[in-house]
Amino acid sequence: MTSNPLPPGSFGLPLIGETVQFLRDRDFALKRQAQYGPIFKTQILNRPTVIMVGAEANRFILSTHMEYFSWREGWPDTFKTLLGRSLFLMEGEEHRRNRKLLMPAFHGPALANYFTTMNDTCRRYLDRWVTRGEATMLDELKQMTFAIASTLLLGSEPGDQTAQLSQWFKALSAGLFSVPINLPWTTFGKAIRARDRILAHLEHAIQDRYQTPTTDALGLLVQTTDENGDRLSLDELKAQAILMLFAGHETTTSMLTSLIMALGQNRDLCDRARAEQQTLAAQGPLDLAQLKTMPYLEQVLTEIERLYPPIAGGFRGVVKAFDFNGYHIPAGWQVLYRIDGTHKLADYYPDPNHFDPDRFNPDHPQAKPGDFRLVGFGGGPRVCLGLAFAQMEMKIFAAQLLRHYHWEILPNQDLSLDRIPSLHPRSGLTVRWSTLTTAA
Ligand code: HEM
Repeated sequence: MTSNPLPPGSFGLPLIGETVQFLRDRDFALKRQAQYGPIFKTQILNRPTVIMVGAEANRFILSTHMEYFSWREGWPDTFKTLLGRSLFLMEGEEHRRNRKLLMPAFHGPALANYFTTMNDTCRRYLDRWVTRGEATMLDELKQMTFAIASTLLLGSEPGDQTAQLSQWFKALSAGLFSVPINLPWTTFGKAIRARDRILAHLEHAIQDRYQTPTTDALGLLVQTTDENGDRLSLDELKAQAILMLFAGHETTTSMLTSLIMALGQNRDLCDRARAEQQTLAAQGPLDLAQLKTMPYLEQVLTEIERLYPPIAGGFRGVVKAFDFNGYHIPAGWQVLYRIDGTHKLADYYPDPNHFDPDRFNPDHPQAKPGDFRLVGFGGGPRVCLGLAFAQMEMKIFAAQLLRHYHWEILPNQDLSLDRIPSLHPRSGLTVRWSTLTTAA
């Protein structure tokens, strides 16, 4: 038994605690952090909660003391119903086995095979926006990233099939953040029906791959075996595929929207990134080898991850009481590690609200791999599974954007940021497009 006190803070009102403020006020945690310091208690989503900010806390939760925490207990019940027994909701050995089986579809040679689809799809969408003249990026990028994810993960053809899947996914995503009442007319009820349709579609796709092997991610997953020769079962495959599609496009859309916004607002930095691309374009069209030679674009994308992290933090259930920095946290609470809070700490990132890719200049970076100051993709053994996939997709998109296109953010729109379901400007970011006449 410890004599340490509970962290400072307030549980708010009986039952609802501070849930309303948490959901409505983007600066909820920042304000309390200013009042109580980097570790404080509150009550949100019906549970006593401790919010912890900073690299040391991130390392503790994500890496060195994982056994105190449960991923499964960190997600709301809606996720458990709609995303089934997928990686998000697994722990221990089951998680390790599934993650290992999923890994090859998101790394190395598999990733290299994805280049052409990513590249062609990005160009197709960019050209489409030029033809239209104006486009709202959040909606458009959602379609683009979904088309990439469903083609690469499920081998679906662009067109009607992808459009239908995308509609079902929209309904499913809406249900993740809804009141869990399953009636035909509720958001949650509609999400469950959409989930069932997606699962039926996936079952067909998997059965096809049992008959005829394919090179999309699902085809690889159907064939992959672990060290004992075991494969993922049909139910495991369906649950993981639904999660990949969900995790694979919402977050990437958020970061690409922020990229277009930030470069549109900082023309000098945009010109610098464009100059790097034009030098490369003079050597030949974009390919896998060129993707490894764009240091400034990498700095830009890392700064986007820092200043505009799509996910603000991660919840975990506390399964074993623990002490941290002089405070005691009982079992049964939940913990929230804060991604955006960590990324805004002036001790790590001076003038933290300023967009400055030079923070990640390799000669004097303000964060280094593994120091838990930069956690836009999480960290430790459960770091984002799609990290390399997402980074490749974003780099391809950004390289093509800078080489061939010009864009202008239209005036009189609300660019203030909302963070649910993932970070985005409230207006959706409406942009006027044209092609660059000087492009190589
Ligand atoms: C810009 C794009 C993305 C961002 C910012 C992002 C962010 C994250 C974050 C922060 C986590 C950890 C959450 C936590 O600790 O609570 C995570 C986990 C995960 N992400 Fe991503 N993600 C992105 C793209 C993707 C893509 C493209 C996929 C799949 C195709 C994916 C699949 C996953 C999975 C499966 C996990 C759970 C890993 C595990 O439990 O072992 N993500 N992601």
